[in-house]
Amino acid sequence: MIDNNIVEEIKSRNDIVDLISSYVSLKRAGSNMLGLCPFHSEKTPSFTVFPARQGYYCFGCGAGGDAITFVRQIENLEYVPALEFLAKRVGITIPADMTRRGDGFDRTRMLNMNKEAARFFRECLFDPEIGAPARAYFEKRALSTATIKHFGLGFSPPGFSALTKHLHDLGYTDAEMTAGFLCGRSKKTGAPFDYFRNRIMFPIIDVSGNVIAFGGRVMDDSTPKYLNSSDTPVFKKSRNLFALNFARTACAEEMVLCEGYMDVIAMHAAGFTNAVATLGTALTPEQARIMSRYTKRVLISYDSDAAGQKAANRAIAILGEVGLDVRVLKIDGAKDPDEFIKKFGADKFRAQLAGSAGKFDYNMNSVLARYDVSTPDGKIKACAELAELIAGIYSSAEREVYIAAASGRLDIPAESIRADIERKIRKRKSEYKKQQSQKIVRQSAGYGDRVNPDYAKNLAAAKAEEAVLGMLLLYPEHREAVRLGKVKLTAEDFFTEFGKRVFGAIAENDQDGTFSPSVLGQYFTPEEEGRITRMQLSRSELSDNGAAVFAESVAALRRERLAGEETGDGVEDLLDIIKEKRNT
Ligand code: CTP
Ligand code: MN
Repeated sequence: MIDNNIVEEIKSRNDIVDLISSYVSLKRAGSNMLGLCPFHSEKTPSFTVFPARQGYYCFGCGAGGDAITFVRQIENLEYVPALEFLAKRVGITIPADMTRRGDGFDRTRMLNMNKEAARFFRECLFDPEIGAPARAYFEKRALSTATIKHFGLGFSPPGFSALTKHLHDLGYTDAEMTAGFLCGRSKKTGAPFDYFRNRIMFPIIDVSGNVIAFGGRVMDDSTPKYLNSSDTPVFKKSRNLFALNFARTACAEEMVLCEGYMDVIAMHAAGFTNAVATLGTALTPEQARIMSRYTKRVLISYDSDAAGQKAANRAIAILGEVGLDVRVLKIDGAKDPDEFIKKFGADKFRAQLAGSAGKFDYNMNSVLARYDVSTPDGKIKACAELAELIAGIYSSAEREVYIAAASGRLDIPAESIRADIERKIRKRKSEYKKQQSQKIVRQSAGYGDRVNPDYAKNLAAAKAEEAVLGMLLLYPEHREAVRLGKVKLTAEDFFTEFGKRVFGAIAENDQDGTFSPSVLGQYFTPEEEGRITRMQLSRSELSDNGAAVFAESVAALRRERLAGEETGDGVEDLLDIIKEKRNT
């Protein structure tokens, strides 16, 4: 558990406008600041920063909270790492015993252990005797000493337990080493042994500069070629990218996504410092979302074999989904970027990057490759597929460019392709409209509410509950009234599970009257914090938040709850809303 005073100190030193401005361009709007939401795509700004209350809220997607919530969301960090991130930003050190996690592992210690391991691997690499084979391997792969040092590469010696012994001597426990994926345990004797042996080592470093994991490659053709850390208390494979710590400052326009660690290293060494790679798995939606926070466009540069191209197709979809402009680099004459740069040089590679085909060209080529367009049947099928692709493009000018291209390649008049596409667009539009109106009805009734699934079961009760919680969050006098029993209120009075939890967190932290909303991050996800922010915003607009209003809100909550219990479910509410909408 982190000391409240430290949390407040960290927050007070990180001004929210200053913090958010380094990610989002903000314009003044009255006493608040306004910008385009970094958490959903929008064309008109609804992301609002409130300097006075040091908070933010997006009226479009409901994201909201304080500086800690913002860092959790934008840097994809858990609560404690987000605090550490903010602490580092203003030069505060959090005492190590405060970062103990729920699972008993101390994050600071785990990270220090990883740093010690990286240092150990590096010392082995540069040890005249032990490191000789690894240095020979790097030389064969044409990696300079400067590059090796830049990436902090190392060597895990053969043997059985060199690292395990070393970390023991430094005071780390078997449990920490096993959880940190640095050692395994012998099935027979239970003795701990080094997980990585006789491999060249790639440390995985997060955007704050912590060593969070390792990849280790054999130096010959034995298998498995790579071993990678599994998830540990300080590492989530699906949420990190290799070399993002370097690429983050060089990728505002474009980021290059490669398959292999060696590709990324070769690219950085050749001056392409915007390259990253996934960590031994296919690209995940979380990684795509992280990329979209650093860049506008991703150039996929996977291996040229069939497996690489298949993976590229999947990555196109995942990256497109988060609104990134995607391009694919088809490497000719080499199996991967590393080999290409070695064979043809950095300048040739730069020319390839510049001339990379856009997503559409790439897709068109792959459609055309699948059909024999010299036959009428092949031509019709290819045309239908291309029309489907083009219909999905928003800009009509862009559509015209692709219609012309498709018309040329298929030898079909542009007008007939255009007519097909327009029909498809009309169909999509009417389907979309239908979906949207269904969605609006459901949303206004609170159905499909992921944060608070109980909300729709009794709207009146849920709304009364939010009012009560909003006032409790905002005003110490109402919390005091509850604490002293002047207003009788317990978790049981709340209608939704979520409401019970919010009340519980407030009560637990207000036993001595020192509650501050800053502590909520320890109990709630950023999405939930967005909802908690909304509760406060809607209350703070009211001119009268006095004791009488609070008491009345509590009474309303009780009343509505009871009424809800009698009628049972929320279908009536849904019907009411639909009626209401028709009448207005
Ligand atoms: N990978 C893995 N486990 C394997 C093989 C590959 O985790 N058994 C992951 C690694 O992250 C690797 C990436 O997939 O970096 C790409 O694999 P590959 O192209 O085989 O490796 P490279 O890093 O490109 O290495 P090299 O150039 O030495 O072949
Ligand atoms: Mn490769």
